[in-house]
Amino acid sequence: MPTGKKLPTYTVPTLTTEDGAKVAAILQDRLNALTDLHLTLKHVHWNVVGVHFIAVHEMLDPQVDAVRLMADDVAERIATLGGEPIGTPGALVASRTWEDYSLGRATTIEHLGALDEVYQGVITDHRQAAEATAELDDVTNDLLIGNLRELEQFHWFVRAHLESSSGELSTAGATTEVDAARAAGKSDQG
Ligand SMILES: [Fe+2]
Repeated sequence: MPTGKKLPTYTVPTLTTEDGAKVAAILQDRLNALTDLHLTLKHVHWNVVGVHFIAVHEMLDPQVDAVRLMADDVAERIATLGGEPIGTPGALVASRTWEDYSLGRATTIEHLGALDEVYQGVITDHRQAAEATAELDDVTNDLLIGNLRELEQFHWFVRAHLESSSGELSTAGATTEVDAARAAGKSDQG
């Protein structure tokens, strides 16, 4: 399994190779998260059932495409920095710090509840990565901020389904995908 741990022999102008390696390592974790996210979004696209099936099924494909492009940009930034982007599924699973998505076939509202948790996690980690690169490399920081603009809009698309007219989220307080799915499903039944 490739590791991507080699120190680059060159990096972008004005960065030290140590800083290039540091930024590449931050980006590798984001690459793992984005690859995981676009695969998970496709899995949901295939497994949603029930009321509003077609709306949710079709809402997800543009998100899959956009997140795949983000993964490509992040991987190519790692290579530009002189690093070695790792894109194999085995390496992703071995190094990720989160669990696999927990739902299979489930209703649209349960998947949306779980996706609220998924986006919450990815965006939180992406924001931390953006902050960690702010001092090291403006270009990488800008790339991550660009990702965040889209990811946060997609998160809103998901949350808008879970929101009451007074602006409360049915998933508020949930900390796992299963809890969020259950809370969203319960509120949908009235
Ligand atoms: Fe499809």
